[in-house]
Amino acid sequence: MLAANAQLQIVANAEELSMVAAERFINLAREAVQERGLFTVALAGGSTPKSLYTVLADERNSFRPYVPWDNTHFFWGDERPVPPDHPESNYRMASETMLSRVPVLPGNVHRIKSENVDASNTAEKYEQTLCNFFRLGEGQLPRFDLVFLGMGPDGHTASLFPGSSAVNETSRLVVAPWVEKLGSYRITVTPPVLNNAGCVIFLVSGKEKAETLRQVLQGDSHPELFPAQIINLSNGRLVWLADQAAARLLQNEFKGRN
Ligand code: 6PG
Repeated sequence: MLAANAQLQIVANAEELSMVAAERFINLAREAVQERGLFTVALAGGSTPKSLYTVLADERNSFRPYVPWDNTHFFWGDERPVPPDHPESNYRMASETMLSRVPVLPGNVHRIKSENVDASNTAEKYEQTLCNFFRLGEGQLPRFDLVFLGMGPDGHTASLFPGSSAVNETSRLVVAPWVEKLGSYRITVTPPVLNNAGCVIFLVSGKEKAETLRQVLQGDSHPELFPAQIINLSNGRLVWLADQAAARLLQNEFKGRN
């Protein structure tokens, strides 16, 4: 079910998805820097955002000069329990496609230090990173200006997987759930953090996501089965950016929700 304050924008293809996401990123970044002098964004992992990050960093197009790189702070919504140079690292993907190519200040890159063998210790340390950066008091939540999220064909988002206790976490900021289907731990920010963002943009591309997107947006609420449904901003803007292949099973009245 698409929340009343949510927006669904359907674009032609994966390339247009990245361009539209880049425009939204820049608008939010410039607005945040103008209002508060800095912009905080939590990046998603996986394959979909790779082209967005590439587009933002590419000197051959018009986005790069408009990003306030000096005042932008990069965080991650989740990470795999691997070193930062590991092929599966979300940090490595963002670094190779964007961060190593743009004038971002090293101190503004707040990666999840997941080389630590003990995933729960990694989660505790990242939670402390958030508490320190956002100067959180007891029980307070960080408020990212923007969070990018992907959605897996199983309806997971960040590293909130179906059946995971992390989906129902209400007090911790960062947890390290065991993900049975992956046979691995993951480190992920929790729904209270994601739902406290100023803006969450889902990036959903490809026909293999169409049935899940239909379930998530038009089906009954079952976040334990479709964790992407747990994202519902009480005081922020939720945007679903989907290409036509991913949106092809959505009913027409939905498609008008631009
Ligand atoms: C990760 C991501 C994950 C991703 C989805 C979609 O660490 O893999 O955080 O939640 O966004 O799995 O991934 P794709 O964009 O590759 O489909």
